[in-house]
This record gives sequence, C-alpha cells and structure tokens, in this order.
Amino acid sequence: MNEQEKMQFFYEMFHSSLSRLGPGTEASTLKALEIVAAARPSPTTIAAGGRLRVLDLGCGTGAQSLILARQLGEKILAVDNHQPYLDALRRRAEAAGVSERIVPLLSDMRAMEFGEGAFDLIWTEGAIFCMGFLDGLVKCRKWLAPCGLLALTEICWLQADVPQDCRDFLLQLYPPTMDIAGNLAAIRERGYTVVDHFTLPKSAWSEEYYRPIEARLEVLREQYAGDSERLGMIEMIQAEMDGYRKYSDYYGYVFFILKR
Ligand SMILES: C[S@@+](CC[C@H](N)C(=O)[O-])C[C@H]1O[C@@H](n2cnc3c(N)ncnc32)[C@H](O)[C@@H]1O
Repeated sequence: MNEQEKMQFFYEMFHSSLSRLGPGTEASTLKALEIVAAARPSPTTIAAGGRLRVLDLGCGTGAQSLILARQLGEKILAVDNHQPYLDALRRRAEAAGVSERIVPLLSDMRAMEFGEGAFDLIWTEGAIFCMGFLDGLVKCRKWLAPCGLLALTEICWLQADVPQDCRDFLLQLYPPTMDIAGNLAAIRERGYTVVDHFTLPKSAWSEEYYRPIEARLEVLREQYAGDSERLGMIEMIQAEMDGYRKYSDYYGYVFFILKR
C-alpha cells in the first residue's frame, strides 16, 4: 500500500458513518457546557451583536457541534480537514433541524489564521493535539476575545505511579503525556484562568467510542481477509483499544474549561 492507500484505509476504519471519532459522551459535553454557561462572557464583552461566536475545532462528524448548536442556539463554525466528515455533519445537522446553525469549514487547523479575538467560545474535544497541545493553547488564546472560553479535552496521566510499560505504550500513540497538574501549570503559564476540569468516565472510551469502531473493524476483517497490510492496520487499532482497557486506570481524557 502506498501512503495514499493507507490514508484511504484509515478513513475506511474511522468512517464518516461513525457518530463520534474520539472518546467522549453527550453527558460530558453537557456538563462542560453548564460550566461554560456559568462562566460565560458578559454581553458587554461579546461582539457581533450580542451573539456568541463559536468555533468547534476538529469537529469530525459533529458529535459536539450538534449539541452546541442545539443548546446554545448560536451559529457554530465547525472545522475539520476531512470533507466526508463535514458532509456527514451536514446531513446530521439537517436531520436534527439545526443545519442553519452549522457552518462547516474544510481547513487544516495547523495552518488556519483567524483574527485576534475572533471567537467567544472555542470547543475542541479530542482534537487540540492535532496542533500540538501547547501550540494549540497559544493559538486559541489569540483567537479568543477577552474573557472568551476554551473547552477542550486532552489525554492526561491519572495517577503518579504509571508503570513503564504503560508509558511506553502511550508514547507510541501520542506525544508525551502530562499529568493533570502538569497540564494545569502549562495552561496557566499560557495566560488562561482555569474555570474547572473533570475526568471523562471510562465509558467515554469503551462504550461511546471503541464499541462502534470494534463493530466496524469486525466487518473490515472479513472484507479484507487475506490482505495482510490492511489486516495489520486493523490490528494496530485493535491493540490501541486493548491497551486502553489494560491501562485505563492510568490515563484518560480530562475536560478543561479555561478563560482567556
Ligand atoms: C479524535 S477526532 C475528534 C472528532 C470530534 N471532536 C469527536 O469527538 O467526534 C479528531 C478530529 O480532528 C480532525 N483533524 C485531525 N487533524 C486535523 C487538522 N490538521 N485540521 C483539522 N482537523 C483535523 C480529524 O479529521 C478528526 O475529525
């Protein structure tokens, strides 16, 4: 397989029919939204005629964009770099009756430029790592209006005594992971006030995210029986999921709600 074929197969596994593409739950998104609502910028700090300007970065097929559109009643600029995900989001938004509030934008978040203070709320679940967590914090702060809010999830160590085999396992998948205190310190160093943070439940991974993917991989294993390269890619994803089950006491996603 050449690189393009590998990428195509990656998207066959992480297909646009999936309703979420990273760990999370509707309840966690709603909980973060409640925290945001309590800390929301005052109307005097909101530009654009009192409307909240909202960006969903790395929106995928819209697991969060749809909730934000429904709950906030505001327009959501939904950015992703894979058009089939944005097409799926458009279809889901139509079905949910919120299509007029979703503005899909095909763009690479690493290359995107917005004006200073362009948004009152930036949401990014499971996606800020695509810019690099620390660089992403700096960029989002620039794009936020004064008192604007950033709600994000990021992988963290959940315990101090992480076994070395777990550290080695995660290092193959993600850039060096920090513990919650380390992330909080990095966040504050970049000029944010921490409004709140909470750890996502294990079900955000196993039930909401991995279960539908595993069902999909099962179908692909049959479809590509005898294709050792594609089967190898499937088993790499399977190993990632098995690793989480083994080490889920030690790492997880943490929701951080931050104020500029
Ligand atoms: C882990 S998924 C999370 C998606 C969604 N927030 C969710 O929870 O279902 C990360 C998303 O970021 C998108 N993405 C990855 N790199 C990107 C980039 N450089 N620019 C824009 N989007 C990117 C992927 O296509 C994917 O939809």
